[in-house]
Amino acid sequence: MRNKITVIGAGHVGETVAFNCARLELGDVVLLDILEGIPQGKALDSFESSPIFGFDSTVLGTNNYKDTAGSDIIVMTAGLPRKPGMSRDDLFYKNLEIVETCIGEAVEVSPEAIIIMVTNPLDAMCEVARRVSSFPRRRVIGMAGILDSARMRSFIAMELGVSVENTHAFVLGGHGDSMVPLARFSTVAGIPITKLLPEERVNAIIERTRKGGGEIVSLLKTGSAYYAPGLAVAEMVEAILKDKHKILPCAVYLEGEYGLDGTYSGVPVQLGRIGMEKIVEIGLTDSESEALHASAGTVRELIDMIPEKVAAKTT
Ligand code: NAI
Ligand code: 2OP
Repeated sequence: MRNKITVIGAGHVGETVAFNCARLELGDVVLLDILEGIPQGKALDSFESSPIFGFDSTVLGTNNYKDTAGSDIIVMTAGLPRKPGMSRDDLFYKNLEIVETCIGEAVEVSPEAIIIMVTNPLDAMCEVARRVSSFPRRRVIGMAGILDSARMRSFIAMELGVSVENTHAFVLGGHGDSMVPLARFSTVAGIPITKLLPEERVNAIIERTRKGGGEIVSLLKTGSAYYAPGLAVAEMVEAILKDKHKILPCAVYLEGEYGLDGTYSGVPVQLGRIGMEKIVEIGLTDSESEALHASAGTVRELIDMIPEKVAAKTT
């Protein structure tokens, strides 16, 4: 029997996740949105590409959570992007409401699923999903670090004129301007970039990585990135469903690791069929640790804004 992957939100990111999960034959895909016709149309269009690509995964579009029942993975992408005139807090409360509703409905029919969160503000929305689902932390994981690392790898490859395949990048912390790209663990063919580039070029790459999301928004003007985010999610889905024990940077709920407790943060984790198998702890210098804690502080400010009533439904 094939795995079942539900993608909530058939917008730019959701459709990219759904299409790539189907194309990679990671499972049968259900694409759900509140808008009628959109998920059905995008799902059918995706499936109609299957004879060309040669994949046998099905793609179903729906507005009904019943169709998502028994999912192995739930990818949550539904939410509003920030619009002109909307404060960060406005976006937070609006997306909180959407995440609360969607995750509540989805976990009721898929109680064993692993949730991959995408909706922004990412780390705080992970915590909303964790509370609403009451799933263990290994089953509520956020996607951001793979995207941020992929951006950093792209910039390193551009700077040095090398294959992206030779690059590796390491980004910790929350998904925002305070994220912590670590140059000494970012390498080209195993060589730290600090040994290959002058300090000011390394700093420029770090700065561009931190602002990578904003750079795309300022070019697109009407939305945010979706190709790289969608593929980053597909990499997580693949690592989980194929039980790869793959180490990837993901947002997870920390319980003392890295000196952080009761908050989400991006850290290296090992993904397998149970979700997050373990958190990989590496020794940080004082300044790296300080930067990670400062980033976690901005996440905690948002988590503290989550109303107490946001909790699992008791039936
Ligand atoms: P989009 O606007 O293209 O799509 C959002 C979709 O959500 C729309 O189709 C909308 O109808 C749907 N939706 C809204 N309320 C819903 C509800 N109650 N139930 C079901 N569907 C609902 O936005 P896009 O570009 O797909 O981005 C989605 C989210 O992902 C945003 O919050 C964005 O900021 C975030 N994002 C996060 C990234 C990360 O690294 N974690 C990367 C890229 C985007
Ligand atoms: C990004 O980093 C908007 O979070 C999104 O592209």
